[in-house]
Amino acid sequence: MHYFKTEYIKYKNNQLFIEEISVNELAKEFEAPLYIYSKNHFIKQYRDFENAFNDVNHKIFYAMKANFNLSVINEFVKLGSGVDANSEGELFRALKTGVDPLKVILTSVGKTKNEIKLGLEKNVLMIKAESEEEIELINKIAGGMNKVARVAIRVNPDVDAKTHPYISTGLSSNKFGVDSKTALSIYKRRNDFSNIEFTGIDMHIGSQITSIDPFVEAVEKLSELYFEIQKDGLKLSHFDVGGGIGVQYNDEDSFSINEFAERTIPLFKKLDCEIIFEPGRFLTANGGILVTEVLYNKKNGNKNFIIIDAAMNDLLRPSIYKAYHHIQPVHTFENRNEIVADVVGPICETGDYFARDRKITESKSGELLAVMSAGAYGMVMSSNYNARRRPAEILVDGNNYDVIRNRETFDHLIWDEKIV
Ligand SMILES: Cc1ncc(COP(=O)(O)O)c(C=O)c1O
Repeated sequence: MHYFKTEYIKYKNNQLFIEEISVNELAKEFEAPLYIYSKNHFIKQYRDFENAFNDVNHKIFYAMKANFNLSVINEFVKLGSGVDANSEGELFRALKTGVDPLKVILTSVGKTKNEIKLGLEKNVLMIKAESEEEIELINKIAGGMNKVARVAIRVNPDVDAKTHPYISTGLSSNKFGVDSKTALSIYKRRNDFSNIEFTGIDMHIGSQITSIDPFVEAVEKLSELYFEIQKDGLKLSHFDVGGGIGVQYNDEDSFSINEFAERTIPLFKKLDCEIIFEPGRFLTANGGILVTEVLYNKKNGNKNFIIIDAAMNDLLRPSIYKAYHHIQPVHTFENRNEIVADVVGPICETGDYFARDRKITESKSGELLAVMSAGAYGMVMSSNYNARRRPAEILVDGNNYDVIRNRETFDHLIWDEKIV
């Protein structure tokens, strides 16, 4: 069986390690299911991104929706990153790290009045608006607060990012942004919005994108619009290309950050403004694993099942996207057979699975498995379904580790509820 490994997550003497810490030791102490992250993977990904775009005036805003643990956000903030926050709650979390609000952008296809108000109160760098009605509301709320809102319009460039339909966002049939024509007409009407300063233009065409061509096509389309706006006398200071860069989960074709930079830098150099990137998955996905214990093996007819103690409430991606995650033993043994099995959780839903018909090394009850590439869209999508307590999260840095979130207690499960 092929084992997934990275510079910071690999086997030493048949034991899986995150940096210098044995996964087995952590699981003994904190029990499974357990999320473990490699801090140095996060740092490396951030620096690789930064270095790739050294030649252009740019700024990274970590898309915290990928992994919003305060310590994880804080690691990127310490490296100089800004933060892309997608809701009031995300803005609250981001500001808890002490990040300068002028390094925060506020996103979301449908912001509430309270979200807009909070963004203005906190004086975030930019609010990204996704409809004409929203722009009118931002203008009204900013007026009532005697403020001028800095706004970017999210444009839907109508480009097929060729990713899973649930995470493709740049087609005109998707709910995101406004089309180029509408965007141009709003920028032209800028004098109607006395409490808005249009400072940017934005796109985000999808997530887990594994081909550069859709990005290039979208950047070209957005650039045309940028220049039309400039011709109309409005000079924008930010050109935001969103996130979406894919990572390797299995054997998909993908591109390196340097290849991405090589293709896009010539386009960015034509623009006379700051380029904004909002990577999420690229920075965190392959820096995390979900450790789980095998509860039982069984056979129904000809089908093998490995029943584990993690479930769809801990990691939802396979259930909602049919996403692939490599699953491998924490301790490898010689002479183990390979079987074909479904790896499933204990929840009473057929969709509660991690792998289907997967060729996998046989494992025994009580042994540990690692679900790889779980650092993005893992814990953030977790829930208490089936009244299951969310796992703890551990951040490893070389020989050290910190618990950055404790496993939930039973009291968390009923927090703020009452029997009437
Ligand atoms: C507006 C926006 N920016 C950035 C991201 C981050 O995307 P990714 O994690 O694929 O880089 C997302 C994710 O959906 C998003 O909606």
